[in-house]
Amino acid sequence: MKTAIIGLGYVGLPLSLQFARSGAEVLGLDVDASKIEAIHAGRSYIHHIPGEDIKSLVESGKFSATTDFSRVSEVGAVIICVPTPLSQNREPDISYVLKSGEAIAPYLKKGTVVILESTTYPGTTDEDLRAVLEKGSGLVAGEDFHLAFSPEREDPGNPQSVVAKIPKVIGGFTPVCLEKAMAVYGQAIDRMVPVSSCRAAEATKLLENIFRSVNIALVNELKVVYSAMGIDVWEVIEAAKTKPFGYMAFYPGPGLGGHCIPIDPFYLTWKAREYEHATRFIELAGEINTSMPRHVVERVGEALNADRKAVNGSKVLILGLAYKANVDDDRESPSYKLLEMLKERGAEVDYHDPFVPVIKPSREHSHWAGTKSVPWNEANIASYDAVLISTAHDCVNYEELGSWAHCIVDTRNAMKGITSPQAKIWKA
Ligand SMILES: NC(=O)c1ccc[n+]([C@@H]2O[C@H](COP(=O)([O-])OP(=O)(O)OC[C@H]3O[C@@H](n4cnc5c(N)ncnc54)[C@H](O)[C@@H]3O)[C@@H](O)[C@H]2O)c1
Repeated sequence: MKTAIIGLGYVGLPLSLQFARSGAEVLGLDVDASKIEAIHAGRSYIHHIPGEDIKSLVESGKFSATTDFSRVSEVGAVIICVPTPLSQNREPDISYVLKSGEAIAPYLKKGTVVILESTTYPGTTDEDLRAVLEKGSGLVAGEDFHLAFSPEREDPGNPQSVVAKIPKVIGGFTPVCLEKAMAVYGQAIDRMVPVSSCRAAEATKLLENIFRSVNIALVNELKVVYSAMGIDVWEVIEAAKTKPFGYMAFYPGPGLGGHCIPIDPFYLTWKAREYEHATRFIELAGEINTSMPRHVVERVGEALNADRKAVNGSKVLILGLAYKANVDDDRESPSYKLLEMLKERGAEVDYHDPFVPVIKPSREHSHWAGTKSVPWNEANIASYDAVLISTAHDCVNYEELGSWAHCIVDTRNAMKGITSPQAKIWKA
């Protein structure tokens, strides 16, 4: 079945490739013409996706891309993977989903299957998106066209995370919608997990992300408490991990980052208010996680103080700008918060990140746009009063860091097992 995938970003591009690889004909749709151009040129704009993969599937005729939404009339299924951020007031912003719905509605035919993948609150698919699709098409969901929600479970930077092998949770607006949506994914995905409704599928994704947010907050809190007791939380987690049941390891860090974990839980918080319920775990986890950059900056202050230096006037290098290891995605990265806070306190701050050679323009960090990653060499690294490891990419040589830097503040346990003859290594 020819399938359109809307939003060719971190989720939509790998999904398109997986469908095309499995033999389905895929039409990618995006409002960003530069992505369409890159796809046709066989060029990747996402670090962990090889351009070769795109090129061979475009050449085979299985994958093409366009900005022309009228071509939805050619397809039997549409999968929507557009952003679902928070607004400036930290409320859900589903405008990208609704705009996609408005753009495709006039071209829906009887029998088209529409599936939303963007993470969102329960009710988005069967209330908000359905209303837009029905209004723009004159068709009725569940009767004329099929509607479903199936959350994405992309794990960027994890080479074991193969789209086809990750079970796909699917909820339909009606039992027939579910059956049709399963037939769409059956073309490309090995295992599907049907649930009773779109809302159950939406809620499943939120549970997964809230679970992560709460558990990361827990280890972040323990990190601070254990550190005061002279106990290394990383050692404790390694030991706890040996328990073969009832424990799952989560790791502390400088704060939450990325498009999902800092944002998605608040979609539920917002929706819960409509039902007069508070989501206390989510709020508390948010509070602890957002306090982490402050804790880390205090630690940098302590480290500099031990060298008889002040934050004000010191040169600090942030190592790792992406929000997680081995990816080029810097959205919501706590490294930006660290850059800001250190700069506010008078430090001279730079960053090094092999995955982010230059900071691209963005809504949130426009004033950092154009800033370049400083080159990795002894003279440069030794010129900083402190190096703060914020994201621990595997390709960085931490042995070299240990032998070059004067002072290292490590939020990721990247210096585990590495001794430095001249630098004190602080955990934060
Ligand atoms: N990145 C992840 O690891 C991840 C994991 C699970 C779920 N998700 C969810 O998947 C969704 C997409 O996230 P992403 O990381 O792929 O975002 P992204 O920003 O990488 O990609 C979104 C794409 O949608 C395009 N777009 C925006 N508005 C559009 C419109 N009206 N019509 C067509 N295209 C449009 C953008 O140009 C962009 O290419 C979000 O809801 C996110 O929460 C992301």
